[in-house]
Order: sequence, then C-alpha cells, then structure tokens
Amino acid sequence: MNRISITADRNYEVVIDIDWQKAIEPYLANRGQVAVIVSETMRDRIVNLPVTDAQIHIFTVPDSEAGKSFSTYQKVLDWLGAAGFTRNDLIVAVGGGAVTDLSGFVASSWLRGIDWVAVPTTLAAMVDAAVGGKTGINSEYGKNLIGSFYSPIAVLVDLAWLDSLSDRDFAAGLAEVIKCGFIVDAKIVELLKEKNLFEVRSDRGLTLELITRSITVKAKVVSGDFKESFDREILNYGHTLGHAIELHSKYTLRHGECVSIGLVFAANLANQCGILADQETDLHREILSNLGLPTSYESRHWSELRANMAIDKKSRSGTLRFVAISEIGETLRIEAPSESDLLAAYERLGS
Ligand SMILES: NC(=O)c1ccc[n+]([C@@H]2O[C@H](COP(=O)([O-])OP(=O)(O)OC[C@H]3O[C@@H](n4cnc5c(N)ncnc54)[C@H](O)[C@@H]3O)[C@@H](O)[C@H]2O)c1
Repeated sequence: MNRISITADRNYEVVIDIDWQKAIEPYLANRGQVAVIVSETMRDRIVNLPVTDAQIHIFTVPDSEAGKSFSTYQKVLDWLGAAGFTRNDLIVAVGGGAVTDLSGFVASSWLRGIDWVAVPTTLAAMVDAAVGGKTGINSEYGKNLIGSFYSPIAVLVDLAWLDSLSDRDFAAGLAEVIKCGFIVDAKIVELLKEKNLFEVRSDRGLTLELITRSITVKAKVVSGDFKESFDREILNYGHTLGHAIELHSKYTLRHGECVSIGLVFAANLANQCGILADQETDLHREILSNLGLPTSYESRHWSELRANMAIDKKSRSGTLRFVAISEIGETLRIEAPSESDLLAAYERLGS
C-alpha cells in the first residue's frame, strides 16, 4: 500500500493498492446516509459494501460525458434533496473521471459542501481526475466550464478495477501518465519508452509504479497551487488542443485520446517556436503511438478547433496561452503564438 498526502482546501490522502471495499469502511462510520454515485456500466460491481449503520443509496448516472451534463447534475441534487441529505452525510463516487468530476461537483454544491470519497475505476481517474479537487460538468460552450475546486476526504485506488478496463480506456489513461513524465518526472518517460500497451498492461509492478509516480507528480503540483493561479497549469500540458478536439468530436473520442493528440501538437508548437529540440518532439509521437494512442486529427477541422481553443481556461482577454516544455521536466508558457506557428504545428500532426 502506498499513501500520498495532498495539501489543499483540506488535506487528504490518496491510498494506492488497496481493496476499496475494505478501505472505505472508516469513512462510513457515524454517517446517517451515504450516496454511492456510479455509472450504468459499473452499477453491478457495487456489491459487498461493508456493513454500516448508515442508509446506503445507489444513484446510477449515464456513462461518460453524458453523466457530466447539467440535467444529470440536477437529477442527483434532486435525489439528495428527496433523501434529505445533511452535512453529516457522505457521497462516494465510484467510476471513471466523468463520475468523479460530477460527484465532486455535487458534493461541493449540496448544502455548500458535504464530504465525498473518490473511488476511481479507470486509469485516467486514478492518476488524474480523482486527485486534485477539480470537479465539474460540461457546458454546451465547452468542456468542464462549470465547476469548483473541492477536495474529497480520501481517494482510494484499487488496481483490481483495471482488469476489466478496455484497452482503449487503459491507453487513454496512459496519456495522462506520460504527460506527468514530460512535465515533471523523466523516469516515467524512461519507463514508457519503447513499450507497447500490452507490455504495460501485463506488468502489474510497472503499472503500480506508473500510477504512484503520476499521482506523486499531481499531488506535488496541486499542493503548491490548489486553485490554479499559475503553477498548476502545467498539468494542462496537451489539453488546450485536447479539449478543443474533445468538444469538436462531440465526446466520441476519450479525454486521454484527445490529450494524446494535444501533447504532440504542444510539442510541435514548442519545436516550431524554437523551444524544444527535434528529438524530444519526435519522442512524444513515438511513445504515444507505440501505446496505441492517436496522434493526428483531420486537417480540415483547424478553423473550428482554433475557435474552440479561444475559450480555453488558460486564455486571457482573447490571448491564447499554451503549456510547453523546453526539455523533459522543464515547463514554460507560450503566450500568443503566431497564427502561422499554430497552423504549422497542427499541420505537422497529419491527418
Ligand atoms: N478533474 C480533473 O482534474 C480531471 C482530470 C482528467 C480528466 N478529467 C475528466 O475525466 C473524464 C474522463 O475520465 P475517464 O477517462 O475515466 O472516462 P470515463 O469516466 O468517461 O469512463 C470511460 C468508460 O469506462 C467505463 N468504466 C469505468 N471504469 C471501468 C472499469 N473498471 N472497467 C470497465 N469499464 C469501466 C465507464 O463506465 C465509461 O464508459 C473527462 O470528463 C475528463 O474531463 C478530470
């Protein structure tokens, strides 16, 4: 078992490599009611919860981004209202990043904030979404535009969930892992170099090390800048174009798949601006494509993606800002890059 502490609006631990049904027990003590929020696909997996005096409700929400809609958010609040949830009650989010994002936002807004525990069930949620206290839902104007900074009281990472995860979702989670490598932890890049998806998936020790290292990166960054005044932005490496593609694809692509394309774009842009060497730039595409992740997007969509990027949360008064690296582990910002550099970086992705 590994424990990683996070300092934020409240301090909490991410506990890695545990059996979540056992680890949840202390958090259920002295609660009147507990709401387990789970996606449709995962509903049947909620069995054998510890015996507790609390009344347990299981709320099922639509899978993936459909669960991060305003209507689902409202429905969950209505459930809590009907059940008479008080400040002593608890929300447990069991699912991928979509469920942990939604549940955290529900927890932050019901009675101006009640406790919640995150039980991430995808790799992306374990290394990223469930850690760091960013919660939210989507707006028709863009991804994650409605939300709050609101930490859980614990994050319980049970690797057994990964056994049933599709290769597609496992690979999508690895996009966030490799992002942590490029921005902070060069060892992650070393560990993933020349590895294919099967080699990573089938090596439990490697998977555990990658998860622990990625959460360590995230914990360190968010503990220093919980509300993303500046430093935390580095976790958005690859996300500016990534979010634009996610919106453009109408969420048919996984978040991690869009981040993968966005990472190659960010490397191309830094290379285009003379900041990142060719070798490190090429390494982005090499590692991501070896893992089976997409690294290109149709060239004809540039103008729509460019428009989508304008509402990125890092933009300031209409000026685009990108997280970039100058070498592995060294981050910086590219402010207001020229339109020709942006287009050239995008065209280098290929179709
Ligand atoms: N809050 C943050 O800091 C943060 C960071 C990264 C991503 N996110 C958000 O997380 C979301 C993406 O999360 P995701 O990649 O986990 O996708 P997801 O939550 O959409 O889950 C993907 C699919 O996997 C299924 N699933 C979940 N666990 C499973 C398991 N163990 N076995 C089999 N199937 C399983 C889900 O039901 C769903 O159909 C996006 O909405 C993204 O914006 C948030």
